[in-house]
Amino acid sequence: MRMYDLIYKKRNGAELSKGEINFIISGFTKGEIPDYQMAAFLMTVYFRSMTARESTDLTMAMVDSGERVNLSKIKGFKVDKHSTGGVGDTTSLVLGPIVAACGGKVAKMTGRGLGHTGGTIDKLESIPGFTCSLSKEKFVENVNSIGLALMGQTAKLAPADKVIYSLRDVTATVDSIPLIAGSIMSKKLAAGSDGIVLDVKTGSGAFMEKYEDALKLAKAMVDIGEGAGKKMVAFITSMEEPLGFAIGNSIEVKEAIDTLSGVGPADLTDLCVELGSNMLLISGLVKTVEEGKKKLKEIITSKKGLEKLKQMAKAQGGNPDAIDNPSLLPQCKKLVEIKSEKSGYVEKINALEVGISSLILGAGRTKKEDIVNPSVGIYLKKKIGDKIEKGEPLAIFHTDGDEKKFNEAKNKFLNAYTIGAKKVKPPKFFYARVTKDKVEEY
Ligand code: URA
Ligand code: CA
Repeated sequence: MRMYDLIYKKRNGAELSKGEINFIISGFTKGEIPDYQMAAFLMTVYFRSMTARESTDLTMAMVDSGERVNLSKIKGFKVDKHSTGGVGDTTSLVLGPIVAACGGKVAKMTGRGLGHTGGTIDKLESIPGFTCSLSKEKFVENVNSIGLALMGQTAKLAPADKVIYSLRDVTATVDSIPLIAGSIMSKKLAAGSDGIVLDVKTGSGAFMEKYEDALKLAKAMVDIGEGAGKKMVAFITSMEEPLGFAIGNSIEVKEAIDTLSGVGPADLTDLCVELGSNMLLISGLVKTVEEGKKKLKEIITSKKGLEKLKQMAKAQGGNPDAIDNPSLLPQCKKLVEIKSEKSGYVEKINALEVGISSLILGAGRTKKEDIVNPSVGIYLKKKIGDKIEKGEPLAIFHTDGDEKKFNEAKNKFLNAYTIGAKKVKPPKFFYARVTKDKVEEY
């Protein structure tokens, strides 16, 4: 087989065989296919797309490029969740505990933040002592004993994705549906759970700005997962504004604690209950989504989910007292109110720009080597649809006292808000639920 012929074939619109896709993925991962040929191939996929069969074969070839996590020693149905990434997305910190408190088994591989989206590891590491560097044995033991563990994703999972993603990033081929689906699903399949609930974001802060594209991506990922024998449900939800109020690390842990105590933001709470009830459903722990929601609301009221977060924190080296007393979490140097320059109603919030403002304050990384400051971030006081008077705070910045960073972040943040004279309705949040045989639109 020659790479030239495969690029030519795909360029002309023909379907590649499983053997041909394996040749490309394994050849490139081993360094036998040069970047220029792979770049040309990725661009043909961008324009020609892939059939469902090709997408599945691409994903499985990427899974086979590395190790699979062996979760067979964990008793019961292992369930995972994945979000395509958003700003202030605190869901993982809430979902794991509430699902585990209902008897679910959550063995989660997770990552650090890069760019405008935060990472679950960075957020949890703001709990003093907390680590995601667990041995495989300890990880399995913790899931068996408390129902929940989080571990940093190793480089051994789907290594093909790492090298392909780096090339996509510099060749304008990131936003191709089969390539995104393959990238996400290869890592999820290699991570070994039996079922996965996906949260595909759409809107200004998301990869897939348009609903139609988000739907195509959701369907592609559900089909790939089901084809690999997993139980799949995908949601399409809005990222027209950041999720909840907190964007940062320790302030998102505090927001998770609030949500687990029943006093969290409504959008975050509703999303966690919706995704969580579907995790319970595919785990076979409830018979209907409604039953799952009822159970999760009870878990929040009784604070059994909060108790789970505490158990997990302790089992991973964290100080469990910080869950009862969030003032033990890293505190910023200085709180500053960001006041509105005009009166009216919040019409739009550019989530991406808010994410970048938080990154500038020090909550995220622009390069892999950067160190995040756990204490800084942005706490929103106004969301879309809210009324605001000139001089009233739009947000509170949690800062490290650096004036230059503060001014840059503040300008960006103020530009992210559109304030108009007319009353506006909060944006639609849930768009659709996708399973292997149907799409329910809301
Ligand atoms: N997230 C991923 O992991 N891969 C993509 O290609 C896009 C988003
Ligand atoms: Ca949040």
